[in-house]
Amino acid sequence: MKKILIFASGSGSNFQAIVEHFQDKLSKYNIEFELLCNKKDAFVFERAKKLNVKSHFVPFSETKAFLESKKYDLYILAGYMRVLPQEVLDFGTFINIHPSLLPKFKGLNAIEQAYNAGEKEAGVTVHYVNHLIDSGEILEQQSVEIKEGMSLEELESEIHKIEHEIYPRVIEKLLCKELINGNV
Ligand code: GRF
Repeated sequence: MKKILIFASGSGSNFQAIVEHFQDKLSKYNIEFELLCNKKDAFVFERAKKLNVKSHFVPFSETKAFLESKKYDLYILAGYMRVLPQEVLDFGTFINIHPSLLPKFKGLNAIEQAYNAGEKEAGVTVHYVNHLIDSGEILEQQSVEIKEGMSLEELESEIHKIEHEIYPRVIEKLLCKELINGNV
């Protein structure tokens, strides 16, 4: 059984999309999800409860100690609002989703940054995580046209829809690769 730990800090819509995508495929891939959240009152805990996913409240400063006491095979960041230090990243493979066409618009409010910059397209990137913000090797990207007259809210909702499709798809690709190569 491979254990996959999803890190989130807030609403958790990506967490939910990932868990729902794999609901019927848990035995195919022989995987199990758990949640780590650093905010006690985050809505993602409600989602985890409904989806029957084991959750852990772990303050940021205790992340390393928590991971030392457990063993996971893959770490997925899904709206985890802290930058993890190298000593935590050393526990294994970490991936992240970011709502921009990296390397453009790293950091907070990426969708708004692209919108306000007058870009013709925005997008979503799934990437490996390193100790720098939104800078690891890119796994997959998908762009979204910013149409004439589109509001920021419309763009945000389109981007989130794409996130919920692309993230489970990339994770599944990694798991398929893992079945062939023997490691994630
Ligand atoms: C997403 O836009 C994701 O790209 C970014 O944080 C947001 C998390 O949203 N890293 P949610 O908590 O999954 O709804």
